[in-house]
Amino acid sequence: MGGYTPEGGGGRAARPGRYPPLASLVVSTIAAFSAVIVIAVLHSAYDDALSRTRTLLGHNLEPTPWHPFPHDKGRPPPHAALRCASYLSCLPPLSQPKPAAAVAANASRPRRCPSYFAAIRRDLAPWRRRDGGGGGITRALVESGRHRASMRVTITGGGTRLHVDLYYACVQSRALFTVWSLLQLMRRYPGRVPDVDLMLDCMDRPAINRTEHTGEGAPPPPPLFRYCTTRDHFDIPFPDWSFWGWPETHIEPWTREFRSVKQGSRRVRWPDRVPTAYWKGNPDVASPLRLALLACNDTNLWRAEIMRQNWEEEAKSGYQNSKLSSQCTHRYKIYAEGFAWSVSLKYILSCGSMALLIDPLYQDFFSRGLEPRVNHWPVSTVGMCESIRDAVEWGNAHPEEAERVGKRGQRLMQELGMDTVYDYMLHLLTEYAALLDFRPAPPHSSQEACAGSVLCLADDHQRRFLEASAAYPATAGPCSMPPSDG
Ligand SMILES: *[C@@H]1O[C@H](CO)[C@@H](O)[C@H](O)[C@H]1NC(C)=O
Ligand SMILES: *[C@@H]1O[C@H](CO)[C@@H](O)[C@H](O)[C@H]1NC(C)=O
Ligand SMILES: *[C@@H]1O[C@H](CO)[C@@H](O)[C@H](O)[C@H]1NC(C)=O
Repeated sequence: MGGYTPEGGGGRAARPGRYPPLASLVVSTIAAFSAVIVIAVLHSAYDDALSRTRTLLGHNLEPTPWHPFPHDKGRPPPHAALRCASYLSCLPPLSQPKPAAAVAANASRPRRCPSYFAAIRRDLAPWRRRDGGGGGITRALVESGRHRASMRVTITGGGTRLHVDLYYACVQSRALFTVWSLLQLMRRYPGRVPDVDLMLDCMDRPAINRTEHTGEGAPPPPPLFRYCTTRDHFDIPFPDWSFWGWPETHIEPWTREFRSVKQGSRRVRWPDRVPTAYWKGNPDVASPLRLALLACNDTNLWRAEIMRQNWEEEAKSGYQNSKLSSQCTHRYKIYAEGFAWSVSLKYILSCGSMALLIDPLYQDFFSRGLEPRVNHWPVSTVGMCESIRDAVEWGNAHPEEAERVGKRGQRLMQELGMDTVYDYMLHLLTEYAALLDFRPAPPHSSQEACAGSVLCLADDHQRRFLEASAAYPATAGPCSMPPSDG
């Protein structure tokens, strides 16, 4: 500053020698100390902010207590937490893009949704008031689900803003991909996603016990979203992350993976397929069913081939042998649940082989479209090996019928394109929003998430999957819900 003043300061500063040496030393020492203190304070504030910043990668979050898993909190580059903060990577939402004109043109004759969309109303029935009206979900009821939720998601601003309140880390990159899935829904249907406030758990097993919330005097069930449910639970099923890709197992986003499995299924015609049942997977997932399945590994006795998927070996060989598209070589493909539902169901059905489903206990959103002997063959857990053998022998005695069952299973998956997945999400959120008796607002402890912040947090490998699964605004409206079954 002094340099520009014609007299005074400038001249004096040029001749520091006039100060007594001791005073000069004291001044510069104080200056140096102050600088060190300022840097230390800034650094500790930065560290403090880092240590408090929760991210979708699980920074500073404990694994869910109801499903502990090894969780390396140091895994992501810690500075990403601040670098990717929403105030840096989320631009304020632009004025809402108008739905394309084509929507209006087609609005009069929308596609009919698959029949399993009717399950949305059944899933939400516990929160419909006796008079059939909405308003059954209070803010307090949503919050009562917090003890079993890994995050709370709030969508506001007419589908333009999404906030997450993170409670626990999710295994692998589930949290990142699940939030991405909602952001893509908002992108696909600009202005149509309703304001919602919901609790979500990203772990496998349903938690809201139906009997504990049924009957006179029982507390109302908290609405809790997760990837699956059962007949004995009130958890609300919602599409799982794998539709947007599963980077840890190299499973591509669903559109690509389905296309590649279907192409693979064309390589071996039905008559040329091995006339036995095939399963390949990981039996070591705390699943008694899969362990029992190992005992059926005998092509002569049980007509079944049970192979162990070793992910460590696969990683070494560059995932060449785990390609789903090269697993359509058998006429019958076995589906066995793991720790809960398994994302493998859709890949198994895609092969066009007759799918042998071992008594599924869990349901995901689309598995309610399964019809025994129509698009799959049911296998019993009791006398399982015999049941598999009987199914294979029936199929080999009725090859045309067995082939048709396989083809119908594949068609069910063909119809489960990403447009259907987004339509399911949209209808589910719309029906859920109609039951809220309050106006959703992001809680103070939440943070905004947007495509920019999610991409910023992702590593290169994850980013490839996220980018490949990005949605584009729909050119037509969503499918129309099947009529209410009362
Ligand atoms: C209307 O829908 C049909 C069938 O879904 C589609 O083929 C057509 O391209 C749509 N029209 C417009 C203008 O988007
Ligand atoms: C639900 O709770 C009841 C009573 O507490 C119990 O008997 C039942 O096993 C539970 N069901 C599930 C699926 O956990
Ligand atoms: C099943 O049997 C086949 C052929 O005997 C064998 O190669 C395979 O390793 C067995 N699978 C398991 C999981 O042990």
